[in-house]
Parts: sequence; structure tokens; C-alpha cells
Amino acid sequence: MKKRVYSGIRATGRLHLGNYLGALKGMLALQDKYECIFSVVDLHTITVPYDPNTLKESVREIILDYLAVGLDPDKCYLEIQSKVPQHVELAYLLSTIYPVSRLEDLPTYKDKKAQYPKYVNMGLLYYPVLMAADVLLYKGELVPVGIDQEPHLEVMREIARKFNSMFGQTFPEPQRFKTEGEYVPSLTGKGKMSKSVEGSFITITDDFKTIRERLAAAPTDSGTEGGDLPKDSPVANLFTLLKLFVSDDVYKKFEQDYKEGDIRYVELKNVLAESIYKELKPIQDKRKEFLNNEKLVDEIIAEGIRKCTQMAEETIKEVREKMGFIY
Ligand code: TRP
Repeated sequence: MKKRVYSGIRATGRLHLGNYLGALKGMLALQDKYECIFSVVDLHTITVPYDPNTLKESVREIILDYLAVGLDPDKCYLEIQSKVPQHVELAYLLSTIYPVSRLEDLPTYKDKKAQYPKYVNMGLLYYPVLMAADVLLYKGELVPVGIDQEPHLEVMREIARKFNSMFGQTFPEPQRFKTEGEYVPSLTGKGKMSKSVEGSFITITDDFKTIRERLAAAPTDSGTEGGDLPKDSPVANLFTLLKLFVSDDVYKKFEQDYKEGDIRYVELKNVLAESIYKELKPIQDKRKEFLNNEKLVDEIIAEGIRKCTQMAEETIKEVREKMGFIY
């Protein structure tokens, strides 16, 4: 049997280069080799404040993004998490074997608590258990996601191990599939590119003008310092981004300019903007095609859900039996 791969993205707005390089590129690389399920995790989406009136549209946007970047429904299944209710059932069953204290200690939970002090809900605490259920429901072995998800992957493996030792070998221990761009820095010069930080990102549907404007706002330095590239600074961030989008030769040229203390950031940003747009343009064209073909997209979604439900039901049946639900 082919290895299974599972990944998901929350429907919280337009995908950006961090999602593209950290998750989508990994998905693309894996769809040729394995049995893949790529999901819009709408149940995870609602753990932070959201608008029910736009949820449907947001979910659809991610499906379109998936298709636009080249996820191919002939090679992988596209899923909408809530349409396969077995996720929730498995999450509940798994939650009974996992300690609350471990969930309270997770950095992702603490971050969200700090970010939304008035919205510390059970779903937020439960998030990693549902995520474990997402992958284990399909006995997924590889998970293409960004490096920030590693603590969640650890929880997933702990749950798999615990289940196996309590009820017999059932689940593999999923590993994260790493991509070259697993860490995409923020344009603000601090931290990583993030949907929730204004000015930090470039989305995959930004036009050339917008990309230029967003890059123009990214902080730099005087350009005359010279010497080795700084390790942790807005300029370091810019170079990390540059490396992900231009050839080695072009990168080395700018690095040399920096060392000699005569780098021109306007030129660097222009080259970077062009390279990013060159990569995004075909994606944007393809997205328009799908946008104009609603019926096809509906069919793709329906077929994904049908196949996923079949696979999910097999696992759930096995888990119910192993846990003693044999009446
Ligand atoms: N937590 C992931 C994120 O924020 C989204 C996610 C939910 C996910 N379930 C998943 C990713 C299962 C991979 C596999 O990016």
C-alpha cells in the first residue's frame, strides 16, 4: 500500500508565501508519489474569532488556491474537514487518552491565549488533538507543514504511541515533511511571515504592483555597513527571502555587494519582486480558470469528500472496535 500523506490549511484569508513555500510546495512534491489528502481545516478555523457569514467563501478560496498551485484532483483528494465528521469522532476518542496538562503547555496554545485573552475556548485547547485525529484518521505518515507545526506533530506521535500501546498497533507515527522554504521570514523584519501580522506577507494572488509596494515597505539598513551578512535583522530576512526566489548567482552578487558596503536595496527589491511575480503569475492565471468553472470545482470537492469518507470510515470502525465499542 502507498504511504498516505495528509495536510491542511485553515480558512483564515489569502494564502501567502509562507504557506506556499512551507506547505503547498511540499504537497506538490508528494502528490506524485503517495496517496495524498489535502484539506481545508474549517473546524480548526473557528477556534479563533471568525465570521460565520464568510466561512463558506473562505473555504472555497483555499480550495481554489490548492487547485491553482497545481494540486491535481487526479493525484490527490481535496477534503473539507467538517464534511467528514469522522474527524470529530476520532478526536473525541483520542482526547480521552491524552493529558490536559500537556496541551496547556504547548507554545501554540499559549500564543493564542495571549493574542485573544477573551476567546480562550475549549476548541483552542483541543486543537492539537483534532489535528492528530486529522492525520491519524487516514493513517497518514507524512505531513507537509511549516516548522512552526512541529510541536503539534509531537503531540500526534505521542497520541499514536499511547493508543498503540493501550489498544494494539493501529497508527503510524507521522513525520513532518520538510521543504526548503519551511521558514519564510516576515517583511516587517521580525519573525516569520504570518496572516495575522499586517505588513508581514505577500499573498499568492498579489499582482506585481502590490508585491513591489509590500517589498518597498520592508525595512533595510544604510547599505554601507559592509562585512558579513547580519544574522538576525531585517536585512537578514530580506536575504533569506531572496535566496528562496533567485538563482545562486544572483544571490551571490547581492551578498558580495553587501560585503563591500555598496548594496542598493532598491535594485535588490526589484529583482526580488520580479522573481516572486514570475513564480506566481502562472498560479494566478490557473486560479482564474477554476474561478470561472464553478461546476468543475463543485465536482472535485464532492469526489474528494466521497473518497475521504470511505477511508475515514475504515479507520473509525477499527478504532471503535479496539476501544471496546463492539455493541
Ligand atoms: N495547524 C495547522 C496550521 O495551522 C493546520 C492543520 C490542521 C493541519 N490539521 C492539520 C496541518 C493536519 C497538517 C495536518 O497550519
